Amino acid sequence: MKILFYDAKSYDQDSFSSALAQFPEIKIEYIKSDLDPRTAALAKGFDAVCAFVNSDAGDRTLSILAEAGIRLLLLRCAGYNNVDLSSAKKHDICVMRVPSYSPEAVAEHAMALALACNRRIYKAYNKVRENDFSLSGLMGFNFYEKTAGIIGTGKIGAAMCRICRGFGMKVIAYDVYPNEALNEFVEYVSLEQLLSDSDVISLHCPLTDSTYHMINIETIRKMKDGVILVNTSRGALVRTEDLIEGIRLRKFAGVGLDVYEEETDNVFEDRSDEILEHSTTARLLSFPNVMITSHQGFFTREALSAIASVTLQNAMDLQSGHTGGSNVVC
Ligand code: NAI
Repeated sequence: MKILFYDAKSYDQDSFSSALAQFPEIKIEYIKSDLDPRTAALAKGFDAVCAFVNSDAGDRTLSILAEAGIRLLLLRCAGYNNVDLSSAKKHDICVMRVPSYSPEAVAEHAMALALACNRRIYKAYNKVRENDFSLSGLMGFNFYEKTAGIIGTGKIGAAMCRICRGFGMKVIAYDVYPNEALNEFVEYVSLEQLLSDSDVISLHCPLTDSTYHMINIETIRKMKDGVILVNTSRGALVRTEDLIEGIRLRKFAGVGLDVYEEETDNVFEDRSDEILEHSTTARLLSFPNVMITSHQGFFTREALSAIASVTLQNAMDLQSGHTGGSNVVC
């Protein structure tokens, strides 16, 4: 099987090349360009394409892929909100993903963001490097005995619940499908109650029509003053303009974002001053209590290795007709 691998970074090539030793039937060609309507035709002559979170797998791309003979789209990630599923079905393209590779990788990063915001680690780091050993502006609060509100308690949210529990926090959660495995130490509450009772709120639900902009000025107003908000899930769960308004209202002790609405626009890859000036992400970065990382929650050795082997196993499973299970999106 020949796979065209879009948006290949050196670390992808390292992890997939190692995993390929177990899959001698598979050949991969890596290209730097991401998948979109302009690059989809390059897939002619391949059996499958491999794409990532920000690839454009909309109707135009999929119809060009279908014309090029592609019947398998391998997502090397969990989320699939960037894929037009009805178009994939229409074009008879099977979409497979890696539903779980290392939930702890993302949950640990969410906690890292929460702690870094709370204790102003980024500010402390810069101050000390500049020979300023004063503590001004660095005051935080104990997480111990405070309330963590986890929205979405699937694999990553559950890992985050366990981490918060380990910190001695009270853990409350909101999910449309509560996770019974967490009943021993997690109290499920309404979204309203979670917003009003939590000292730290962490988002772990997928981006869907019902979760799009779930954090907006109305929901922000319901939060406690001095709350810490963390989003490692998808940028569009938060309405950025409203988040900026909430920050201006001094609602937040800190905001930690690993994902942001403009990610797909490659705002920071195209670093023209005009784009930066008008980007809401750049406006967010101008606030001293906001910390943004560049979608790196998944970025651990363990996670990359698991992503590579599950993605390649997905390809083999489809070829041998095993197309059931949660790895198949459609
Ligand atoms: P999952 O599918 O195991 O869990 C998602 C949970 O959200 C489920 O329990 C589901 O019932 C719940 N949910 C769905 N709609 C909801 C709603 N309207 N309100 C409240 N809860 C709702 O997914 P997993 O693996 O935990 O991943 C969560 C998200 O994390 C992914 O969708 C993806 O967007 C993001 N992610 C981010 C990464 C990063 O590097 N920053 C890496 C991997 C995933």
